[in-house]
Amino acid sequence: MSAQPPEQTTEATRGAFAHRRVFIFAAIGSAVGLGNIWRFPYVAYDNGGGAFLIPYLVALLAAGLPFLLMDYAIGHKFRGSAPLSFRRMSGRGAETLGWWQVGICAIIAIYYAAIIAYAIRYTLFSVDKSWGADPNAFFFKEFLQMEVGFGLDVVPGVLWPLVVTWLVVLAIMVGGVQNGIGRTSIVFIPVLLIAFVALVVQALLLPGAVDGLNAFFTPDWGALTDTAVWAAAVGQIFFSLSVGFGIMITYASYVDRKTDMTGSGLVVGTANSSFELLAGIGVFAALGFMAQANGVAVDDVAADGIGLAFVAFPAIISEAPAGALLGVLFFGSLVLAGITSLVSVLEVVISAVRDKLDLGRTAASLAVGVPVAVVSGLLFSTTTGLPVLDTMDHFINRFGILLVAVISMVWVAWQMRALADLRAHLNGIASVPLGGWWSALIAVVIPAALVYVLIDELLVVLEAPYEGYPDWLLAAFGWGTAGLVVVVAIVLARLPWSARTPLDVPAAPEEAAR
Ligand code: ALA
Repeated sequence: MSAQPPEQTTEATRGAFAHRRVFIFAAIGSAVGLGNIWRFPYVAYDNGGGAFLIPYLVALLAAGLPFLLMDYAIGHKFRGSAPLSFRRMSGRGAETLGWWQVGICAIIAIYYAAIIAYAIRYTLFSVDKSWGADPNAFFFKEFLQMEVGFGLDVVPGVLWPLVVTWLVVLAIMVGGVQNGIGRTSIVFIPVLLIAFVALVVQALLLPGAVDGLNAFFTPDWGALTDTAVWAAAVGQIFFSLSVGFGIMITYASYVDRKTDMTGSGLVVGTANSSFELLAGIGVFAALGFMAQANGVAVDDVAADGIGLAFVAFPAIISEAPAGALLGVLFFGSLVLAGITSLVSVLEVVISAVRDKLDLGRTAASLAVGVPVAVVSGLLFSTTTGLPVLDTMDHFINRFGILLVAVISMVWVAWQMRALADLRAHLNGIASVPLGGWWSALIAVVIPAALVYVLIDELLVVLEAPYEGYPDWLLAAFGWGTAGLVVVVAIVLARLPWSARTPLDVPAAPEEAAR
């Protein structure tokens, strides 16, 4: 049996999106996730309300979109997973950055799946409002069984939806780039949009909705002089757009070489921020209703993350007319948005393992998915779950995503001096050409802003233990996971590539055929 030429093993068999439209749906599916629905509304409210939209838009236009285009350029030009693309760009040192992003994605996948599992249960709980009169006690004591304390007692009510989540996600991953990720996104994103618009309309019709919108949009102009507000905007944009952790490098590597990437980036960025704004309107309309029903201020009911989704929303659902519908739409949206983001996070790891070891799609999906699912089950279907989840999310976002983002931009701009080349690559096929301003943003402005944000975040976590959690928990799951991914990245970058993975960019199939 003759060996396949290298370009066949990489270009033809690693998978590809069949059309630009499919890529755009997949990229929107990745971007629109839990970050949009449960993080953005409160981050905006807590950081100046209507005035937050200014730092948010500046962060989007000056940092998020330019960095998204750098990710696109790297993946699209070097045609590999994050480690392979960086390796092809400039050797082993850069490859480490790619593995660092892979490690971050493995950690995010572990806890992201747990939140989707909670949302699956809560979609069902919404039908008969199973949480009764006290959603707070129900969530922490009955559902998560947190009164047992820190321990590894399995909570069956979390375990089974987690198993369902992983089975669905693994089936999508085995399906591959086009038939798995592409087709899922083409179906899930329109359904998500319809469900979410229905939710927002229902929320806007509730009494008190206007008070919620007033609270959300009333600008606190003083917030604009607070640097923490700008830091919050940058952090929100990066997580929300899925930039800086390998996802967009990986997805762009599956896009046809002649596809316009800058125009695609603008579509994805606009769709993501529009959805985020819609989520803010829907969530605050519902919180306005809740505040009016209880005769309190919106500030007293506003919450984020876990508290918003699994405590505040159940309370709203209990009191709202047609509350069961509101609940199914809200939690169903979380599930749909969560799954299309989780598959993108997991694809970063699967794609890297495939490139490194030249594994088939099914083998790599199982080799990655099963261990990640088992760790996810061990950590999050047990009574220790929630503080671990919260800690991992907080630390990996800051000292993972933001840190590797700064280092990769500085590396690409100053060590590799590759920005002119990447810009030329994007402009060769661009509907919106990039000027020298793009290089200036990537080389100087965004890294400087991120270094500032990181120092700020570091001072906050050094000042007081995050959320008052015990030191051992923060050391193991906060600093521990953020550090572990770096160590693992250094080791993996030293392991050899499969002999069948070319470390030079493969020629386009039509050029190779000549
Ligand atoms: N971009 C995804 C989110 O917002 C990861 O949740």
